[in-house]
Amino acid sequence: MKKEIKKIAILTSGGDAPGMNATIRAIVRAGIHNGLEVYGVEEGYKGLVEGKIKLMNRDAVTNIINRGGTILGSARLPEFSQDEVAQIALDQLKSRDIDALIAIGGDGTYRGALKLTKMGLNCIGLPGTIDNDIASSEFTIGFDTAVNTAVEAIDKLRDTSNSHKRCSIVEVMGRYCGDIAYAAAVATGADLVITSETGYSLEEVIKTVKNCQNHKSRHVLIVITEHITDVRELAKQINEYTGFDSRATILGHIQRGGCPTPFDRVLASRLGNAAVEELLNGEGGKCMGVFNNKVVATPIEKALEMKKQMFKGYKDLTTIIS
Ligand code: F6P
Repeated sequence: MKKEIKKIAILTSGGDAPGMNATIRAIVRAGIHNGLEVYGVEEGYKGLVEGKIKLMNRDAVTNIINRGGTILGSARLPEFSQDEVAQIALDQLKSRDIDALIAIGGDGTYRGALKLTKMGLNCIGLPGTIDNDIASSEFTIGFDTAVNTAVEAIDKLRDTSNSHKRCSIVEVMGRYCGDIAYAAAVATGADLVITSETGYSLEEVIKTVKNCQNHKSRHVLIVITEHITDVRELAKQINEYTGFDSRATILGHIQRGGCPTPFDRVLASRLGNAAVEELLNGEGGKCMGVFNNKVVATPIEKALEMKKQMFKGYKDLTTIIS
């Protein structure tokens, strides 16, 4: 028999992402609309272990749909993989009669939600990360905003790069997923994109820069995902092998901030609402995502095993970008 739920909690964990607040707002509003008490956990799983749990009302989520960051705060807690640490978290929820948890974040957050699910708590995971590296959703909350931020920054770099006849190497975030780099490269008309999916070869970089020189280009733009190579060193190598004056720019955490785009706000609202519906239907151990503009639920365990595919729309564009 389905257990009727009365109280649910929300947390945000891992690297923050624009749109997390819009997600929190959607969950609180959908929860209250359905007669639930909704609790906010501060500082992710760390705050859960420490019992930083507070009741949220509609006022708590007023004026946050457009705000970057997360009003609940976020943290990383690798120790959550230990049974005794997760048990403390579970006890914190049980002592307050909280029946279910919605965890917003990336794959680390999903692993925490899976652990609690296996210990008997109904958990739903929502994809909140700029990296777009969650295989169970075509888009993650925050990705679109991060791409917009990267594009705005790269457009500015193009101006100065063009004035000074330079090669700009721009390192973007994404951890080991190339989606931010690929989308930003397509949107800015970059000459080369380097990601873990494309692979990296210094020879190819040099060839691209020399090609641009042959075409008398005033600037060269290379977009690269973090963790591939030392971009400052790469700029020196380009100078050395081609004579093209080069500069490296690491965009860094600026990509995690700012007002979420309408796309991210809508995605956040849809997934937040769907998570509450799933819990009301007695479901747990799932994570929500979108495919072909439809909300889909996938068992968290399966989601963690799925291999992230490069977004099909980018693959089609390899003819206009190296
Ligand atoms: O997962 C989001 C992300 O911003 C990645 O793109 C990046 O590799 C990482 O987090 C940075 O983490 P931190 O803020 O802990 O340095």
